[in-house]
Amino acid sequence: MSTKGDRLWGGGYEEATHPLVARMNASVAYDQVLAREDILGSVAHATMLRDQKILSKDEHVAIVRGLRGILADVEAGSFDWRMEREDVHMNVEATLRDRIGAPAGRLHTARSRNDQVALDERLWLRRKLAEIGAALARLIDVLSQQATLHADWPMPGYTHMQRAQPVTVGHHLLAHAEAIARDAERLLDVQKRVDICPLGSGALAGTTLPIDRQKVADLLGFSRISGNSLDAVADRDHLVEAMAAAALGSVHLSRIGEELVLFTSAEFGFVRLPDAFTTGSSLMPQKKNPDMAELVRGKSGRVIGDLVALLVVLKGLPLAYNKDMQEDKEPLFDALGTWHDCLVATADMLARAQWQKRNLLNALDKGFLLATDLADALVSSGVPFRQAHEQIAELVGELTHNQLTFVKFGAAKIAKRLNLDEAVVRDTLNIQKALKRRDLAGAPHPKRVKVAAKVMGKRGEMLAKLAAKALRPMPVEAILAET
Ligand code: ARG
Repeated sequence: MSTKGDRLWGGGYEEATHPLVARMNASVAYDQVLAREDILGSVAHATMLRDQKILSKDEHVAIVRGLRGILADVEAGSFDWRMEREDVHMNVEATLRDRIGAPAGRLHTARSRNDQVALDERLWLRRKLAEIGAALARLIDVLSQQATLHADWPMPGYTHMQRAQPVTVGHHLLAHAEAIARDAERLLDVQKRVDICPLGSGALAGTTLPIDRQKVADLLGFSRISGNSLDAVADRDHLVEAMAAAALGSVHLSRIGEELVLFTSAEFGFVRLPDAFTTGSSLMPQKKNPDMAELVRGKSGRVIGDLVALLVVLKGLPLAYNKDMQEDKEPLFDALGTWHDCLVATADMLARAQWQKRNLLNALDKGFLLATDLADALVSSGVPFRQAHEQIAELVGELTHNQLTFVKFGAAKIAKRLNLDEAVVRDTLNIQKALKRRDLAGAPHPKRVKVAAKVMGKRGEMLAKLAAKALRPMPVEAILAET
């Protein structure tokens, strides 16, 4: 009776914990990545406690120095993480007690692990989102640069994965850039809701002690403090939002990955990837597999799974904190880490991808991509579109049957058959001219693509700046370094 058993604190337990408690309850194996955030949060909290005369100056100095030593050990990889100390918060606090003794016992005054973990995750997310913002901006930059270089490289555009109408490589790359830029905008939106300091909410109902919440928020560079103590310890919306952005962002990357897989195949031969991103087969000597593009495609599956896992954990949870919420961490770290890796891999692949002009042109010719243009030429000569459509469909059918292309059949014969000027047909079938006919906002005229690439480049720079702004200076870092 009245024993702690193997527990770190509390009393009055009638038996020791079940052996599984140590393993299932402990989160330190994965939440130790929060160590830096945990320590910064503790330094801010201790500094506020000192200013409120809840801690003495000497106690504050002892605590901050002790925490600094712990952070140094963590960063050197020599910190002794112990599973029986359950999580990152208890490992840091218990080690602090081992090292500095009594003052360590005052650090947790007016604080609970519930507001502590909520804070740590926000600090971590703030840093991670800024990193991801930079990676998104870099991918946008690569896409814009490659789009500029390939603004007038004709390429078949597809619908239903069937050759449809001509676009340019630049136009195609900028289509992906649009999606990535939207991902960056979503990230900026999430950053606003991450930027809230929950500390001072205690376990669920605040504290009776005279703390200064705004002071803690200022020391940690938050622009707001949370408005309701129950919500502050129960809220994981910002995690869900970040992971939803990660899931959609990963889906976008999977579409790029899929195209790289297709376009690098011999069947297309549109692009070559740098060898650094391909691997061989253990059996087939000739193989160069686009593994990284495949992985970018495949990893989206786990990121989506991470998002769903967290949503399901949160569903139906009563207020306020529940231990279920400890299950938020592995999916969170996995989703954002994976998104970041895939962004870097995609940017690096695309920066060095070599587009194959001849194969692109070849595919354009074989695919009758200018059939719509020929129909439009007929329309310009007065033929109703439906009739023009039919005439060209018949022509394409015949040519396909005889294994011919527009070019092989020749402008003269086409002109005669369609009752058009040969010069008009020649112009219509000229790919560069065909691109230039697509001269309207959002279309692949090479000049428009060049302008669009510039605009996209600027948009990427702006997004990078905005995403980095969320990384506010944290006065607490100076206190940690200089105490
Ligand atoms: N490791 C815990 C988590 O991540 C910290 C909060 C624990 N709070 C508690 N009351 N047991 O959720």
